[in-house]
Amino acid sequence: MNTRMKWNSKHKERVCEQKDPVPNPRLEKLIDFLNGGTALDLACGLGGNSLFLARMNYQVQAIDISDVAINYIQELATNNKLKIHPRVYDLTKWNDLNWQNSSFNLVVITYYLDRSLFHIVKNMIKENGYFFMETFYQSPQTENLRVSNQYKLHPQELLVEFRDWTVHFFEENEQEGRQTIFCQKC
Ligand SMILES: C[S@@+](CC[C@H](N)C(=O)[O-])C[C@H]1O[C@@H](n2cnc3c(N)ncnc32)[C@H](O)[C@@H]1O
Repeated sequence: MNTRMKWNSKHKERVCEQKDPVPNPRLEKLIDFLNGGTALDLACGLGGNSLFLARMNYQVQAIDISDVAINYIQELATNNKLKIHPRVYDLTKWNDLNWQNSSFNLVVITYYLDRSLFHIVKNMIKENGYFFMETFYQSPQTENLRVSNQYKLHPQELLVEFRDWTVHFFEENEQEGRQTIFCQKC
């Protein structure tokens, strides 16, 4: 089963559960920084973060490999008249996407790790723009998760990766095995 099929099947199950997609709780708490503009939600899934950001006055580009997820977001965006442009895209073929540098006020990545995206994302964020990321990191708590270490951050990795940026929030939650950063390009 290829990546798209695998994720389509997971997303179909979630859509059938008929639960509204929810935003990341750490992102939700950052409303004082979320001033609107252009946002990019990479590997957006069913769009909890995209919907939240659109309601915070962002024009959102939402990207995911799963057409099930993207169709679902499109329907929600249309029904709720939200400025979200969902797009099916395989992020491992990122080079084919022709985005200009400095085009987003905010880029969000949650629970998707592809380290080759870091330098592209850094270029795509405008001066003074923000980056939010959260995913699993290698900790005793995530050892038994069915997620390969390849898809987990190293301890403190995001702090090191974004050491030249202003970090407004960083957390490693050992209990939940997640690492979160919110930083600004300045
Ligand atoms: C764990 S989910 C996270 C979804 C969402 N960001 C969230 O936090 O709820 C991972 C997402 O990555 C997407 N994905 C996996 N591989 C991808 C790829 N190569 N290109 C784009 N999206 C991909 C999946 O379809 C899925 O929606």
